[in-house]
Amino acid sequence: MSEVLVVIGAGGMGEAIVRRLGAGRQVVLADFDERILDRVTAALDGDGYRVHPWKVDVSQRDSVAALAGQASELGSVTAVAHTAGLSPVQASTAAILAVDMVGVAFVLDEFAKVVAPGGAGVVIASMAGTFATGHVPAEVEAALATTAAEELIDLPFLAGPGLADPGAAYSIAKRANQVRVQAASLAWGRRGARVNSISPGVISTVMGRRELAGESGAGMRAMVEASGTGRLGTAGDIAAAAAFLLGPDASFITGTDLLVDGGVVAATRHGGS
Ligand SMILES: NC(=O)c1ccc[n+]([C@@H]2O[C@H](COP(=O)([O-])OP(=O)(O)OC[C@H]3O[C@@H](n4cnc5c(N)ncnc54)[C@H](O)[C@@H]3O)[C@@H](O)[C@H]2O)c1
Repeated sequence: MSEVLVVIGAGGMGEAIVRRLGAGRQVVLADFDERILDRVTAALDGDGYRVHPWKVDVSQRDSVAALAGQASELGSVTAVAHTAGLSPVQASTAAILAVDMVGVAFVLDEFAKVVAPGGAGVVIASMAGTFATGHVPAEVEAALATTAAEELIDLPFLAGPGLADPGAAYSIAKRANQVRVQAASLAWGRRGARVNSISPGVISTVMGRRELAGESGAGMRAMVEASGTGRLGTAGDIAAAAAFLLGPDASFITGTDLLVDGGVVAATRHGGS
C-alpha cells in the first residue's frame, strides 16, 4: 500500500515540507486558494513529486473530512502536516479564529480517524502562542484544549474586547493550537500515532514578509536582530523540524510543541540579563 503524505496549506512552509518529505510518497497537497494550489502543484510535479491537489477550506468540518477521506483512499496516511493559516495583517479576528483556531481543531479530529498506526502529524502553531503562555487563564486553556471544535468559537473569553485586534486573536488561536495538540495526542495515541506542534518565529515566506512589511514589522525585526541567531528563519528550517517530528527519531515525542524561532523568545525573556 502506498504511503501518503498530506500537506495542508500550499504556502511557503507547505511546499518546503513536500520537497523535504514527499519523494517516494503519494502527496496530497490541499489549500483554499486554487491559484496557489495549481502553481505549487505544477512546480512540484515538474520536479518529480507525485502530487494530488485538493481544494479544502479548513474552517469547514465537512471539507476537512472529505480531504481526510480522499487521502485514506490513496493509501496509508503516515504523515500529516497542517500549515494552512491566516496572519493578522491578512485577516479579521473572526477569520483568524475560524481558520487558525477552529480549523486546527477540525484537522486534529478528522485526521485522528484516518492516520495510520505508526503515523504522525504536525501542526504549525507560532511563537505568538508561546508568548501568550501565562497570559491565558488556566481554565481558558483547558477549555481551548478540549471543547468540541464547533463550540470553541462560543467560549465567552473569545468575545472579550481584548480580542478585537486580529493580532491578539492570532496569539490566542496559536496558544490554542499548542494546547489542543497536547490534548489530541491521546486520541492519536489510541490509533498508535503521534502528533506535535511546531511554533515558528519569523520565517521568510509570503506570510512572514507581509507581516514584516506591516505595522509590527519594525518590532519584529528588532526582536530577530536581538536573538541568538540574529536571522530570519527559512521555510527549510521549519521543514527540517517537521521531518524530525514526523520521523522515527521522534518516536517517543508526542503532545508537545517545538519552538523553532532562532532564539527570539529566549532573547525577549533573558536579553537584559
Ligand atoms: N511565516 C511566518 O513568519 C510564520 C511565523 C509563525 C507561524 N506561522 C504559521 O505557519 C503556517 C504556515 O505559514 P506560511 O508562512 O507557510 O504561510 P503562507 O501564507 O505562505 O501559506 C499559508 C497557506 O494557507 C492557505 N489558507 C489560508 N486559509 C485557508 C483555509 N481556510 N483553508 C485552507 N487553506 C488556507 C493559504 O491559501 C496559503 O497558501 C501558518 O499557520 C502561520 O500562521 C508563520
